Amino acid sequence: MAVSPDEFKASLGCRATGVSIVTSRDGDRIHGMTCSDFASVSLEPPLVLVSAAKTARTLEVILAGKCFALNILSAEQQDLSNLFASKDKEDVRFQGLDTHEAVTGAPLIPGAKVNLDCTLAATHEAGDHILCIGQVEHVAIQEAEPLVYYQGRYRDLVLQDG
Ligand SMILES: Cc1cc2nc3c(=O)[nH]c(=O)nc-3n(C[C@H](O)[C@H](O)[C@H](O)COP(=O)(O)O)c2cc1C
Repeated sequence: MAVSPDEFKASLGCRATGVSIVTSRDGDRIHGMTCSDFASVSLEPPLVLVSAAKTARTLEVILAGKCFALNILSAEQQDLSNLFASKDKEDVRFQGLDTHEAVTGAPLIPGAKVNLDCTLAATHEAGDHILCIGQVEHVAIQEAEPLVYYQGRYRDLVLQDG
């Protein structure tokens, strides 16, 4: 029996994930969106994978600019996650953000827990998404707690005994 979209979303929402903003640049155009579906793929060479909806404007910029940065958000960046996920706020996403330009040209989100700067190594069509595989060219890690997402809500990490 076919799995319904609601069942599919409910089951995958049971994964606790980090939250990232994937950004890219094509010439003067910078763009970015919130994403949780990113995975590590290979150690040698270091590869990561982002799954972008075919309708996402960020995808156009990644494909044209052939680069992207994965900015793994810190616990204080919930508002940024909401801003970069909201369709109607597209034009204001970067306003007031003091972004730094990565080696590839992609804008890096300040205050993120991690910035991974990637060149686009390959793409694969997968249903209504495009898998974008990036070769990691540079990483920066900051002291901060990560933002956690589970069943449609943001959470705090709790340290367990043992
Ligand atoms: C926690 C969270 C995770 C998301 N993960 C993804 C994702 O992995 N891929 C994707 O295409 N959209 C994802 N989205 C939705 C996009 O952020 C949203 O559709 C955004 O408005 C796309 O912007 P754009 O069309 O300007 O690129 C996610 C949203 C949230 C809140």
